[in-house]
Amino acid sequence: MNSTAIHRCLHVLDLDASLAFYEQALGMTEIRRMGPDDGSWTNVFISTDTSGFQLELTWNRGRTEPYDNGGRDSHLAFTVPDFQAARALHEQMGCICHVNDAMGLYFIEDPDGCWLEILPEKAEFAPQAGVDVLAALGRRRSLRHYSGEPIPAPLLDRVIEAGLRSASGRGRRPWELVVVSDRDTLTALARCRDHGAAMLAEAAAAVVVLGDPTLADTWVEDCSIVMANMHLEAAASGVGSCWIQGRMRQAADGRSTQDFVAELLGIPEPYQIEAILSLGMPSEPAAVRPLDENLRAKVHEGRF
Ligand SMILES: Cc1cc2nc3c(=O)[nH]c(=O)nc-3n(C[C@H](O)[C@H](O)[C@H](O)COP(=O)(O)O)c2cc1C
Repeated sequence: MNSTAIHRCLHVLDLDASLAFYEQALGMTEIRRMGPDDGSWTNVFISTDTSGFQLELTWNRGRTEPYDNGGRDSHLAFTVPDFQAARALHEQMGCICHVNDAMGLYFIEDPDGCWLEILPEKAEFAPQAGVDVLAALGRRRSLRHYSGEPIPAPLLDRVIEAGLRSASGRGRRPWELVVVSDRDTLTALARCRDHGAAMLAEAAAAVVVLGDPTLADTWVEDCSIVMANMHLEAAASGVGSCWIQGRMRQAADGRSTQDFVAELLGIPEPYQIEAILSLGMPSEPAAVRPLDENLRAKVHEGRF
């Protein structure tokens, strides 16, 4: 049995005030919201760029009686990179409700009375080395069916950032990324391969990864790392994605995938298409597989 904590729900009386508080006090911004057409309730999911953890702020129309979101007896904890600066900000906001200098921490209170513990970043609070990446790798699958919903902008940004943070030979970064989200262009792009790219027609976005062979002889490896990192971050962020091979492949109209994509997207010389990452919110969760133990036979100790 395994599980992943993904969010904590807090009920709020004034949604706008709570969104403003969490953005100012903790840098948490909206990822997505949901609710019925009649507007009787709204759930807004908020998070920061650095944590997958989300708060679900639930607002119910007509509610005036205060909620009990915990207080002294239960709290949420946040680490901050600059403890002194956070303390100064929270003092200025007037939201500090309890200080424990001996333990080097303090609490702030949100507009509905929920206590939030503020801690400096310390090694003991960090996720165990490697665990998060392995968890994301465990969830990674090639997903080719999407729900049709747009990808929330902060999640698409995370995917792009994962690509931009990639290692490259001699640090040359010989790649360029073209982010496509226009429906007609995605439909046209689905014909960049004779088969294997049809999912682009229902994707919410695609990232075309191009390499400059004149800049680095490692451009294929460098572009592949960008692709792999974006594919992994998409899985970690709950976005479905699939790698579409671009190099050495043919388009549906018989041209090379290179020529087809270059004309469609206005790609100049000397850029070569390496691959395309299709992206969309999954229509169903990825089927998580246990590690195939036969793969261990591919690992050779010391000598082949
Ligand atoms: C270099 C590479 C090229 C790939 N090309 C395509 C492709 O053109 N179209 C496609 O549907 N999937 C493509 N894939 C996805 C693979 O089919 C997929 O990774 C494989 O079947 C294993 O499934 P999994 O990713 O869910 O573990 C590619 C993957 C890689 C790494």
